[in-house]
Amino acid sequence: MKKNNSVKYVCSVCSSTYSKWIGKCDNCGSWNTLYEENNSLSSLDEKNSIIIELNSLKQTEVTRNRILTDIKEFDQVCGGGLVPGSAILLGGDPGIGKSTLLLQLLAKIVDQKYKCIYVSGEESVQQIKIRGDRIGVSEKTINVFSSIDVGSIIKTVKNNNDIDILAIDSIQTMFLNNLESAPGTISQVRSCAQELIKITKHLGINLILVSHVTKDGQIAGPRVLEHMVDTVLYFEGENSNDYRILRSIKNRFGPTDEIGIFEMTALGLQEVNNASQIFLPNHGAQINGNAIYAGIEGTRPILLEIQALVASSSHSNPRRSVIGWDNNRLPMILAILEKTCGINLSNKDVYLNVVGGLKIRETAADLAVASAILSSYFAKPIPDKSIVFGELGLSGEVRPIKQMVKRLNEGKKQGFKNVYMPPSNYIQKNNMVVKKINKVSQLIQDFNFSRNT
Ligand code: TYD
Ligand code: MG
Repeated sequence: MKKNNSVKYVCSVCSSTYSKWIGKCDNCGSWNTLYEENNSLSSLDEKNSIIIELNSLKQTEVTRNRILTDIKEFDQVCGGGLVPGSAILLGGDPGIGKSTLLLQLLAKIVDQKYKCIYVSGEESVQQIKIRGDRIGVSEKTINVFSSIDVGSIIKTVKNNNDIDILAIDSIQTMFLNNLESAPGTISQVRSCAQELIKITKHLGINLILVSHVTKDGQIAGPRVLEHMVDTVLYFEGENSNDYRILRSIKNRFGPTDEIGIFEMTALGLQEVNNASQIFLPNHGAQINGNAIYAGIEGTRPILLEIQALVASSSHSNPRRSVIGWDNNRLPMILAILEKTCGINLSNKDVYLNVVGGLKIRETAADLAVASAILSSYFAKPIPDKSIVFGELGLSGEVRPIKQMVKRLNEGKKQGFKNVYMPPSNYIQKNNMVVKKINKVSQLIQDFNFSRNT
C-alpha cells in the first residue's frame, strides 16, 4: 500500500499525535487508543460549491411515512417504526442474536414490498441461507451478499436506485481501501460508518449497522459512532436464560430507554408480549428476601422480582454484591436502614439480585430494595400479592416518583392486591389496598416484622 505522509495518529484519550501507529500512547499510557487521521486538507476551494436554496420548516413536507416492521417490540423501541433515511446502530455481545434479529426484521420488511440488502462481513451467503432456513425466512426476497469492502457496497447501492434498507453485519468487519489500518481499528470503523451514513442519507435509504460491544459494555470502536447515527439500540441478555432485551440508548425520533423483549427459541426470536409475567416468580410461595417492584422501562410498566440475602459475615469487610441494579446505591440504602430502622448490618454480607437479567436504572426501586433487605434481615416474607415502589431520601423519607398510575395498573392487571408507595403519589385503586409509606422504618410495622432477631 502507498505510504501517505499526511497521515497522523491521534490518541482518542489524550489527543497526543504520532507520525506512526503504536500500541500504547506514550503520553497517557492507554492501550489501543490511536486512530488514523488524514490531515491533507488544503484551503477551502469554493469552485464546486453551490448556493443552497433556503426553505422554512413551514414549507417542508414530510413525504415518506415510517416503515413499520410488523415486529411490534422492535417498532416500539424505535419510537414507532423506522424513519426513512435514518441510521441505526444495533450493538450487542457476540452470539446474543443480532444477526438473527436483523434477518427476521428484513424478512418482515420485504413482505411489505420494500427492497432490502443484507451485507455480511462475517458469514458466507450459504451460512446466511442456513440461518434463514432455521427461522423460516429463506424464501424471502432479501438481497444478500458477503463483502467487507465498503467501496464495493457503496457502488452496488448506487447501482440499484430503489433500495429502501441497507443492513451491514458488522461494522467491525468493514474495510475502506484508502486507509492503511486493518478492519476493526478505530479509524476503519469510524470512516466506514461515515461513508455508509453519507451515501444512505443522500439516497434516503435506511441504514442498520450491527456492532459488537467490548467487554466493558461499550460499542466497539470510538464513541463517535454513537454520535454519528440517529438511533443506538443495544441487544442484551444473560447466558442463563433465553430472554433478550432490545433497549434504545439514543433515539433522535423517539423516546430513549424504551425496551423490547424477545425470547430466543429454536426457530429464532419470538416477541414477548406479557413482559411482567416472565420476570415474576413462578414458585407461588412467599420467600424471605423477595420483593416485587413495579417499575417502568421506557414507556412500559413491568413488574420485577428483587431478591436480597442478608447473611452473617466472616469477613472484616462484609461483602456487598449487586446484580441488575446500581452498585453505588446499595451502600446508601444500607446506611439509611441502619440509621432509621435501628438495625445493624455492619457485620452482615448483603447480596442483591434482580431476577431475569434486566438492569433497573430507576431510583424508584429504592423502597422495593429496602423491603427485600428488611425481609431477609427479619427472616419474614413481605405480605402476599404486594408491589412496592418509591425513592428514598437520606433521612429515610419516601419521595414521590413518576408514572405511578401505570405502575398501579400493571400491578392490578397481574393480580396484585397490596401497594406500598410514596405518600405524595397516593391515589385510591379499586380492589387494591394502597398504603402510604412516609418513612422507610414504617415498613417494619406494616409488614409485621418483629425486631427480636
Ligand atoms: P446470532 O444471531 O448469530 O448472534 P450475533 O449475530 O449477535 O453474534 O445468534 C447466535 C445464537 O443464537 C447462537 O448461539 C444460536 C442461537 N440461535 C437460536 O437459539 N435459535 C435460532 O433460531 C438461531 C438462528 C440462533
Ligand atoms: Mg452475527
